[in-house]
Amino acid sequence: MRRRLIKKVCLLFGPRLPRIWLVLCVVCVFVIIVLSGLSSSSSSFDDITLAVKSDTYGNYRRLKEQAVNDYLDLTSLSLGVGNLKEVRICGKEREHYVPCYNVSANLLVGYKNGEEFDRHCEVSKGEAYCLVRPPKDYKMPLSWPVGRDAIWNENVKITKDQFLSSGSLTKRLMLMEENQISFHSDDGLMFDGVKDYSHQIAEMIGLGSDVEFHHAGVRTVLDIGCGFGSFGAHLLSLKLMTVCMAAYELTGSQVQISLERGLPAVIGNFNSRQLPFPSLSYDMVHCAECGILWDDKVDRILRPGGYFVLHGSSLSTKKGSMASPVEEFVRKICWTFIAQQEETYIWQKTIDAQCYSSGVQGAILPCREEREDSQSYYQPLASCVGGTTSKRWVPIQNRSSRIQQDEFYDDFESSLSALRNYWSLLTPLIFSDHPKRPGDEDPLPPYNMIRNVMDMNAHYGGLNTAFLEEGKAVWVMNVVPVRARNTLPVILDQGFAGVLHDWCEPFPTYPRTYDMLHANGLLSYLMSKQCSITNLLLEMDRILRPEGWVVLSDEVGSIEKARMIATQIRWEARVIDLENGTDQRILVCQKPFVRK
Ligand SMILES: *[C@@H]1O[C@H](CO)[C@@H](O)[C@H](O)[C@H]1NC(C)=O
Ligand SMILES: *[C@@H]1O[C@H](CO)[C@@H](O)[C@H](O)[C@H]1NC(C)=O
Ligand SMILES: *[C@@H]1O[C@H](CO)[C@@H](O)[C@H](O)[C@H]1NC(C)=O
Repeated sequence: MRRRLIKKVCLLFGPRLPRIWLVLCVVCVFVIIVLSGLSSSSSSFDDITLAVKSDTYGNYRRLKEQAVNDYLDLTSLSLGVGNLKEVRICGKEREHYVPCYNVSANLLVGYKNGEEFDRHCEVSKGEAYCLVRPPKDYKMPLSWPVGRDAIWNENVKITKDQFLSSGSLTKRLMLMEENQISFHSDDGLMFDGVKDYSHQIAEMIGLGSDVEFHHAGVRTVLDIGCGFGSFGAHLLSLKLMTVCMAAYELTGSQVQISLERGLPAVIGNFNSRQLPFPSLSYDMVHCAECGILWDDKVDRILRPGGYFVLHGSSLSTKKGSMASPVEEFVRKICWTFIAQQEETYIWQKTIDAQCYSSGVQGAILPCREEREDSQSYYQPLASCVGGTTSKRWVPIQNRSSRIQQDEFYDDFESSLSALRNYWSLLTPLIFSDHPKRPGDEDPLPPYNMIRNVMDMNAHYGGLNTAFLEEGKAVWVMNVVPVRARNTLPVILDQGFAGVLHDWCEPFPTYPRTYDMLHANGLLSYLMSKQCSITNLLLEMDRILRPEGWVVLSDEVGSIEKARMIATQIRWEARVIDLENGTDQRILVCQKPFVRK
């Protein structure tokens, strides 16, 4: 087969050979040798030709160009040519590696005054590529919901000292056992249990109990500095979508531990940049001992009528000096003080967009030139009030849950059928010797094997809706790529989790934090934007847990390219042709569990 392919390539160029083509031909032959070398060591190459034989030859010229691109991509990795087959594995120091947050490197290039803790991807850009591998004693996380209450010690980075000294409300609620950390949301023994706390907040905003949060219009909560997520876990059980957000932490990371428990979380800093959410995103922002200087940073993302809940011992001890500037400030941004009990304070954002321009002395004014869809992707903080002229300025207490756009329904319908296909594919059987087709009968995937899902190109959140419709116990991080159509407001308005992200950069999360990554149309979109697909797949490998799944749906050229790279990063990969007469293909991959 190898010889036949080489002959074919050279025939393509044979008679009229300018020098550049000669070079391309040599590169191409080289890539084919590598590919067919791989095919002899495993049967994988034969399987794809099985699925896409006619296209492979029909689109040969295009494939050849991609092979050249791939080759150039790969040489840009710091690999010796002899190493082309597989990407190097990182050292132990990168077991918990998150790019863009190298504080010492940030200091070196001159960031200071706290900005060194912010996300600076341009600083990490030159770092060598390698595959992040799990710690030596890494164990597969327990499946949901057991995994919510117990995680393996060695899967996360935390020191005993940190564990003992942790002071915040929810951090106190954990115990370290032999090789597990267990979380007790409420065992009745602790007077400051999370349930009591949530109940107290409900009462303070005038509700009978915390099961009534929905009555006050609260569906989504941003929990800034979430401890280890126990408050969020409780709110999730009340069907409130609660996303934990905390700064990058070298050890004892709140975000890493929350995600390990199967709770929504993302790294985010409140220093000098806007968060990657549009304005008017959350119904409640909660901050327990989170140590941020809160102000209009919070106002922008809070919906009209939404609540800001602040809990902290530092507030009451310093009350004399703190209270008056706080009061002054909330008046300027039209918040109303609702209640205080012990160390918990609650304010409510105005529902009256006119309030800001009503001439309160020193009031912060609405932002000028506000664009409805303006993308808040780590923009500098603005000292003005956002969202006041938005169509989405609707008090949380009386919003309708109707979504108007037709595209939304199309997205949902196609996602639902796609999800059913994926689900039938996501079984270890597909990687056995008997290639499987969508719709074939076979045993159901193991119960709750997937919990943390990321939809990397979420459109209207159709995949998320489909998961809910199918009754799967998952949550979805809906990612809307920057420069794509900004559908994030529609996603957040459905009460889902979501962020904006530039996929030419690493995602703000820890390694091994997602069980499944899905992307429909992202590869071809990014190729048109000149982003490196190799870097994208390496990044996906970093954030995917061992034995986690990747499902990419795209046109055949992009899929073939991704498939080649997938082999280089040691994923098991299969291309599925749905045989519906289009050049759409699905690439299903599984990351291996490699121990060092
Ligand atoms: C962080 O940056 C420093 C200085 O550039 C470098 O020596 C170090 O290896 C980097 N750390 C990681 C984990 O990449
Ligand atoms: C919200 O609902 C109340 C009563 O249900 C109504 O009076 C008010 O006009 C509504 N506000 C908006 C902005 O729709
Ligand atoms: C074929 O399947 C792909 C992937 O699910 C889908 O996007 C496309 O719309 C389908 N085409 C037809 C004609 O059914």
